[in-house]
Amino acid sequence: MLASIKSNEFKYESQKLAMNYFRVAIVLFGAQLLMGLIAAIQFLYPSFLFEVFDFNVARMVHINALVVWMLYAMIGSVYMLLPDETGIEAVGIKLGKLAFWVLTAAVAVVVLVYIFVQVGPGNEATIWLINEGREYIEAPRWADIGIVVVVLVFYYNVFATYTKGNRTGIMTVLVADLFALAGLYLCGMFFTDNISMDQYWWWWVIHLWVEATWEVFVGSLAAYGLIKILGAKREIVEMWLWIEVLMLFGSGILGLGHHYFWIGTPEYWWEIGALFSALEPVPLVAMFVHVLYDWGKEQGHAEAGQQGHAVNNTPAMAWIAINAFGNFLGAGIWGFFHTLPQVNIYTHGTQFTAAHGHLAFFGAYATILIGMMYLGVQGAYGIKKMTMTFKTKMAIGLIVFGVLGMTVSLTVAGYEQVLVERADLGGGWDAYFIAQELPWYLQAQGWRLTMGLVTFTGFLFLVADLLTIGKTEAAKEEEVQAAAA
Ligand code: HEM
Ligand code: HEM
Ligand SMILES: [Fe+2]
Repeated sequence: MLASIKSNEFKYESQKLAMNYFRVAIVLFGAQLLMGLIAAIQFLYPSFLFEVFDFNVARMVHINALVVWMLYAMIGSVYMLLPDETGIEAVGIKLGKLAFWVLTAAVAVVVLVYIFVQVGPGNEATIWLINEGREYIEAPRWADIGIVVVVLVFYYNVFATYTKGNRTGIMTVLVADLFALAGLYLCGMFFTDNISMDQYWWWWVIHLWVEATWEVFVGSLAAYGLIKILGAKREIVEMWLWIEVLMLFGSGILGLGHHYFWIGTPEYWWEIGALFSALEPVPLVAMFVHVLYDWGKEQGHAEAGQQGHAVNNTPAMAWIAINAFGNFLGAGIWGFFHTLPQVNIYTHGTQFTAAHGHLAFFGAYATILIGMMYLGVQGAYGIKKMTMTFKTKMAIGLIVFGVLGMTVSLTVAGYEQVLVERADLGGGWDAYFIAQELPWYLQAQGWRLTMGLVTFTGFLFLVADLLTIGKTEAAKEEEVQAAAA
């Protein structure tokens, strides 16, 4: 009977393509975690792989793989929801498929160069062929240009499908948001000799991605997911989506100022950055309340004996719920901690920043993108109601516990740096190293490594689950049907 189960029940080519994007995303996610573990070991044992695979290289691959796997999962999510929302096959899908292979080949070359060539002399050839040395978006110039071409193809697919098919609110927001998201990438592509100017534009990509365009993007995914999983009312989720767009673009854009405090920009950024970035958590709270509210209302209906809509994909729903909490905690709370210049002058660039960076990227993005992968598996196997397996629960438990553990450890390390390095010793060169050799700091780094291993174990369960849950759940459904017949 198992042999009759097909993993390709999708009606649309667009959705089959989505699964390819998800597959590469998961591989890169694994690579990201392995690189993180190497870098974490190097904090404790600085001679580990010294001059073979240095900390700066492991760190570079760690955070670039992070950005790229998320972009893959985001493109995959769009190809998955496109036919559902517009009601038609993606326009130009053949070109879209070609773009996938071109992008994947390019990413493979870039990663191999990162790993084997690693760094080059400070000249133009390095920028063109090895890496640009811009944190998170270090891809060499040739790959930059290639990425722009691939993204143009992707955007053409989305935009043409949007204009031809149904124009839902979710699609309208997505089409506008993707335009901004892709356009911002251009700000990280030119190079100036002035480091302040370079950083100024670099933040346009980094901050305006994660605190404006990506947030709106996952807002659209949450809206789509809630409709699909819970049968949420479209008018309600779309109304909240529009409110979020308004608020996030407002606070997110001027909130950019919280990165301009100490890079040589004029001092008026202190006030602008402080005020607007402090407002940023407001839409995050709204998003959080909104998801809980929708959920609660659904439960209420079900209890009152009305036609309550059962959750038809509990793994995806769980990850979306974790997203609401995680986004709020990692971006909202941990972001607010250090966003006022009066605080940031002490915490800037400490492990506090790393604590926030981990919980925010994980909470706001990794979670919901994993949820989308489960929706993908459900569609691929044509499962009506997908439930959690033992592996789903292990993955959720270990990954969430691991990332929270890492965040707390890094917060402790950051606290020690603020007290010893910044407040007590005045933040000089010596102070930086003295603070990193004291027991509090080392113990915190030890706990981070331990929690990193917990996270990685959870990741292994996640991969195993994504590979098997489709088949087991489909088989279960077939059995029930056979019994009923
Ligand atoms: C999902 C949304 C967010 C993500 C993914 C995110 C991620 C990050 C990351 C990775 C960094 C470190 C950048 C670097 O390497 O230099 C950073 C820095 C920072 N973030 Fe966020 N962030 C988010 C939202 C927020 C919010 C809402 C706030 C404020 C309320 C905030 C405040 C800050 C501040 C002040 C810094 C600079 C830290 C320093 O001076 O060292 N972030 N963020
Ligand atoms: C196995 C688990 C992980 C380990 C051991 C690990 C370890 C590390 C290390 C050692 C760094 C360099 C920190 C520094 O320069 O001070 C780092 C940076 C970073 N990692 Fe991870 N990581 C892990 C998982 C993750 C996950 C799941 C995410 C997000 C989804 C993530 C996002 C980041 C970000 C955004 C940075 C840059 C932070 C900054 O610049 O402040 N990491 N990680
Ligand atoms: Fe920011």
